[in-house]
Amino acid sequence: VATNREQCVELDRRDRLAAAREGFCLPDGIVYLDGNSLGPPPRTVAARLQDLVGREWGQDLIGSWNLHGWIDAPVRIGDKIAQLIGGVPGTVLACDSTSVNLFKLLGAALSLRTDRAVLLSERTNFPTDLYVAEGIARLLGGGRRLELVDWDEIEAAIDGDTAVVLLTHVNYRTGAMYDLAAITARAHAAGALTVWDLAHSAGAMPIDVASAGVDFAVGCGYKYLNGGPGAPAFLYVAPAHQATAHQPLQGWFGHAAPFAFETSYRPAAGIAQFLCGTAPILAMAALECGIDCALDYDLSAVREKSQNLIDLFVERLDARCGAHGLGLVTPRERDKRGSQLCLSHSEGYPVIQALVERGVIGDFRAPDIMRFGFAPLYVRYVDVWDAVEALASILDTRAWDHPRYRRRAAVT
Ligand SMILES: Cc1ncc(COP(=O)(O)O)c(C=O)c1O
Repeated sequence: VATNREQCVELDRRDRLAAAREGFCLPDGIVYLDGNSLGPPPRTVAARLQDLVGREWGQDLIGSWNLHGWIDAPVRIGDKIAQLIGGVPGTVLACDSTSVNLFKLLGAALSLRTDRAVLLSERTNFPTDLYVAEGIARLLGGGRRLELVDWDEIEAAIDGDTAVVLLTHVNYRTGAMYDLAAITARAHAAGALTVWDLAHSAGAMPIDVASAGVDFAVGCGYKYLNGGPGAPAFLYVAPAHQATAHQPLQGWFGHAAPFAFETSYRPAAGIAQFLCGTAPILAMAALECGIDCALDYDLSAVREKSQNLIDLFVERLDARCGAHGLGLVTPRERDKRGSQLCLSHSEGYPVIQALVERGVIGDFRAPDIMRFGFAPLYVRYVDVWDAVEALASILDTRAWDHPRYRRRAAVT
């Protein structure tokens, strides 16, 4: 807890994770609080891509699929991600986008619950999750439907007609976090399966999908895994379901013998059946650099620091911005929130633009949410101090009240 900037500098000096920041390229003078949306480039990524293009692709050409292990990349990188989310080897793949993986896994889960009609989710879940669920319900027909309830109604809504509970562990607009193990247990008690979206938690905290009994999970590669814009995502399938679930995107990479070129589909054994087409090798290499950064550090220490950073941010807000009508959307309790802090403000969009112009990067989610992400591998205590000082100054002087801050860009 710090009451002046020097104390924040001291907290950074004593921080066990301080050295991790050296592993990333960040511009001087920028306070980057948007790693929950797009992580910065790992320092290793440019040289890795150069080598991949020049030597592997450039010199060894197509032979690199065998020679440099390109063919194994989804499983190899998946096994690294498994270490971050508590899965055993052979349960995770790095592949496709989160949306596409959701489609595959919802299809797989529904193939195991053909006698139940309901895909259950919560109203403020990330839209792509809801859209994909709606789409697969329509495609399958037979009375399948997506049912939505409020955040805190989910456990009560699970019943004997629930096929799949589809939830995001940490909510993108509020930063609130579900109890992964408790809800999974509640779903199982009712005979339902779970599909968890770990987009806002993988790489930011310890997760143990195996001991929580999670059935299926997906997550993003470009947020806390620092895999680059549009990085491949990941999917997790519990060992118990790998022999019985059927995923609907039957592509040749999920076939038992892709290079036998058989006329009809036979799924591969194990996790490989959840592949579809050819992996984007350049993007996979960048993703692997990002994951390697995360693997170097203890996720309990990462979690502890993210909560300290958020606590400091909230304290400084209380001290400096109390008069400005900011609403604290994220829970104050550490065990009920992820690694981001969300504030509501009627002028949230121009306030964020004014902050960005001053080098403090957060983002905005309609209609009125300002989001600040705390990725402990590179965010410092002093960054929190400087961010709140900048926010206080913008609010005190109404600097946000200028037409140039109101122009909406395509990405907010
Ligand atoms: C919870 C959640 N799921 C999924 C996505 C995005 O999915 P995709 O990578 O398919 O665009 C996001 C993007 O921010 C997200 O927050």
